[in-house]
Amino acid sequence: MAITPLKNDRFLRALRREPVDHTPVWLMRQAGRYLPEYRETRKRAGSFLAMAKNPEIACEVTLQPLARFPLDAAILFSDILTIPDAMGLELYFVEGEGPKFRHPVRDAAAIAKLAVPDMETELRYVMDAVRVIRRELDGKVPLIGFSGSPWTLACYMVEGGGSKDYARIKAMAHNDPKALHALLSVNTDAVIAYLSAQRAAGAQALQVFDTWGGVLSPAMYREFSLPYLTRIARELPRGEGSERTPLILFGKGNATHLETLADSGAEGVGVDWLVELGEAARRTGGKVALQGNLDPATLYGSPDAIRTEVRRALDSYRDGNNGSRDGHVFNLGHGMSPDMNPDHVAALVDEVHAYSAR
Ligand code: CP3
Repeated sequence: MAITPLKNDRFLRALRREPVDHTPVWLMRQAGRYLPEYRETRKRAGSFLAMAKNPEIACEVTLQPLARFPLDAAILFSDILTIPDAMGLELYFVEGEGPKFRHPVRDAAAIAKLAVPDMETELRYVMDAVRVIRRELDGKVPLIGFSGSPWTLACYMVEGGGSKDYARIKAMAHNDPKALHALLSVNTDAVIAYLSAQRAAGAQALQVFDTWGGVLSPAMYREFSLPYLTRIARELPRGEGSERTPLILFGKGNATHLETLADSGAEGVGVDWLVELGEAARRTGGKVALQGNLDPATLYGSPDAIRTEVRRALDSYRDGNNGSRDGHVFNLGHGMSPDMNPDHVAALVDEVHAYSAR
C-alpha cells in the first residue's frame, strides 16, 4: 500500500504518552443511528449487516462522523460478532432485540468443532473495508481496527444473543470450566489472527472491547477474562518503537483491575465512568495511556452541561497524572445511543480540543 503520511497523529502520540498540542478525542459508536446520514445509508443498504459486509458502504459510514466533527481517529465500521459469524454461528439481528446467533454453542461437543476462521476468505469483507477506508482517509486521521474480547465474544456465543444475567455462560463457568476455557482459547487465537490481519490491511491502532468483563466477580474475571486479554497483549505482533501499532484494552466495569491491566503489555486501557480518571491515572502510574471516560448519558445534557463535564474529566486526568494532560485519549466510557443529538457531540469535541490546548 502507498503510505500517505498522517496529517493528524495526536491520537497515536497520546497512546505513546508523547506530548501533543491538544488531547485527542474519538467516540465509541461515533458512526451510528444518531446521525441522519447513517439512517439514510442504512435504508439504502437494507440492514446493518448489509452495510458492514459491503466495504464501500462500510467506508462511507466510517467517514460520516469525521465529515461533521474534527475527531482525531476513525474506527472501522463493523461489529465484534463477525468472528463467531464466520465460525458458523450465523449472526442475525432482530429489530429492537439486538444481535442473535442461529447456532449458539452450549456444550463441549459444540465448542470442540470451532476453528479459527480464515481471515482473507471468510472475513475478507472486513479486511477489504480496512483497505478501502485507509485509501479514502488519505492520512487525515489514524484508523482504529477492533475486536471483541474472548470473554465478551463467548457471552454472545453461549447465550445466543444479549443477556441480562449471563446465566448460561456463568453456569458453564461453574459446571464445565474446561469447556469454557477451550472456547476462550479458540476465541483468543481468532482475535489475535483477526487483529493481525486488520493491522496488515492498514489499521493503525487496535482496540479490544471487553464489554462484559465487568459482569464477572473479581475472581472469575481473573480466571475467565484477564488471562486471555493478557495473552492478546503479549502475543499480538505489532512492531516496535514509533512504528508500533498500539493496542487498547477497553473494558466496562474494569476499575478493580486497572493495575493488572496496566501490566498486561497493552499500550492503552479504556475505562468507563465508574472510576475517576485521576484515580485511574494514579493507579496505572504512567505505564499505559488512558482512554475515556465520560458517561455517555452526559450527551443528554445541554451543551453547557456537557462542556462542564468535559473539563472535569480532563482536569481529573491531569491531577492524577502529575499535572500533565499527556497520555490521555478522550472518549466516552461506552458507546453512543441512537437518540443522541449530533449538536451535543459537536460541543463535546470542541470543548475537549479548546480546553486541553497547550
Ligand atoms: O464505534 C463505531 O462507530 C464502530 C462500529 C462498531 C459497531 N459495533 C457498530 C454497530 C463497534 C466498535 C461495535 C462493537 C460492538 N458490537 C460491541 C462492543 C462495544 C459495545 O458497544 O459494547 C458489542 C457488544 C457489539 C454487539 C452489537 N452489535 C450490539 C449490542 C448492537 C446493537 C444492537 C441494537 O439494536 O442496538 C450491534 C449492532 C451495531 N453495531 C450497530 C452499530 C452502529 C447498530 C446497528 C443498526 O441497527 O444500525
